[in-house]
Amino acid sequence: MAAKDGWSTRIGVILAVAGSAVGLGNFLRFPGQAVQNGGGAFMIPYIISLLVLGLPLVWAEWAMGRFGGRKGYHSAPAIMGKLGGSAFWRYGGVLGLLIPIIIYMYYVLIEAWCLGYALYYLMGWIDLGDDPSQYAAKSGAFFGNFVGIGEDGALLKGDLVGGVFMFWMITFALNFFLIYRGLAKGIEWFCIRAMPLMAVCAIIVLVRVLTLGPNPAAPDQNVLTGLGFMWNPDYSALYDSKTWLAAAGQIFFSISVGFGIIINYSSYLKKDDELALSGLTAASTNEFFEVCLGGLITIPAAFIFIGFAAGEQGTFGLGFNTLPAVFAEMPGTRLWGFLWFFMLFLAAITSSLSMLQPAIAFLEEGLGVGRRASVTLLGLITALGSFFVIYFSKGLVALDTMDFWVGTALIFVLATIEVILVGWFFGIDRAYDELQHGADLKVPPVWKVMVKYVSPLFLLTIFVMFCRDKLPGYYETLSDPENGVPRMAIGLIVVVMIFLLILIGIASSRWNAQEAAARAEG
Ligand code: ALA
Repeated sequence: MAAKDGWSTRIGVILAVAGSAVGLGNFLRFPGQAVQNGGGAFMIPYIISLLVLGLPLVWAEWAMGRFGGRKGYHSAPAIMGKLGGSAFWRYGGVLGLLIPIIIYMYYVLIEAWCLGYALYYLMGWIDLGDDPSQYAAKSGAFFGNFVGIGEDGALLKGDLVGGVFMFWMITFALNFFLIYRGLAKGIEWFCIRAMPLMAVCAIIVLVRVLTLGPNPAAPDQNVLTGLGFMWNPDYSALYDSKTWLAAAGQIFFSISVGFGIIINYSSYLKKDDELALSGLTAASTNEFFEVCLGGLITIPAAFIFIGFAAGEQGTFGLGFNTLPAVFAEMPGTRLWGFLWFFMLFLAAITSSLSMLQPAIAFLEEGLGVGRRASVTLLGLITALGSFFVIYFSKGLVALDTMDFWVGTALIFVLATIEVILVGWFFGIDRAYDELQHGADLKVPPVWKVMVKYVSPLFLLTIFVMFCRDKLPGYYETLSDPENGVPRMAIGLIVVVMIFLLILIGIASSRWNAQEAAARAEG
């Protein structure tokens, strides 16, 4: 049986939760979503989603976790079973394992790209030539080649030294090394160091970007036009379901709610530890990194050099294509490139660690195995899944499919299950009392109305919109006989889910026996 794990300091747990939240979502996904959805038009649904969905759910997950921890459990299936008072909810908790595991499989690969880019910049190996008109094209070509966008298996061909596969192995090993060391000595130790370092790197890059002059060839492309694009509201976009969907999805992905992660992290708190202010602090830290650093670096920088074409970039376009072109224009290219990608790497690793811990907790408490066995089993499963994403690199289709179904759709589903469980089965008054126990902040009682009525309705509306707007396009992709990768990716997700459901069945019998024995002892 594993030794009892736990956090060592309050700041440590806040930084660990904030570290889980602050990630690639803040620096790549947020600017990408904001520009694709009209900048200022995106920010209103984004702020509403944060207040109506994000924060209420953050507090709900913190309360769920500490409650579960008090009962001796740390994984979503066990905790949700306790909250709902029946084994049925344990199976619903499968999503609290599946989501972080599957996201880890592709997230760790992007993390490896960041490490690779950081090192390449440091060594001066990224050279976009001397002709500024070619920077964007060369940067795009370099990225495509680096991540193997042209053909499947490209990352496993030729000399692997210095390629993504090597960076993937380093990144993967580092994640599992830290996870093996446990909460305080691994995750907390790393986050306490990485978060401030990440902030310093980001602030240095931010200051440099905000002091860039206008584009000499197009003087109206300057920092102010970039900021104006992001912050001038466009109320007409409020009528577009696509913007709402993107904003709510971004809030979930970014704060790491609906992942099962916060439930797991807060389950290691002691019964009188503070929840309300800690939850708010972690979420606010995430927003600071996202809006004040991620958004303010990428969007103005992109605007100066490519103007409104910035809006045509996909999720990776701004971070991996546009910014390298921007850095090439700036004196000190190597330094800026290194700082940016090293910061992305740190942001990613504090998040990927949090994707592994829920499953480790489950394997330990559900199957009664020790740290070594749980780390080995999870390492094997995630390595296989990640290898799938590495091999099927063409067009990043495997990665995109997993991100679509798990990193977007299933997060909504888990969040919906959670609010229904807390609001309607556990009891909203009990949940509020749990949240306020030992709290340094009075959460407004309207939180109860939000979690019980507003969030489920909001979530269901979003889910219906999601099915209406997104699924028909996906159906076409899936039925294309030329393209088997999305079907295989979905198959992989289903197989992992079935495997986890079987493990939950085994764990469930174990937990029932343990609880019966405890009752018999009185
Ligand atoms: N919350 C993490 C991120 O933003 C997953 O990247």
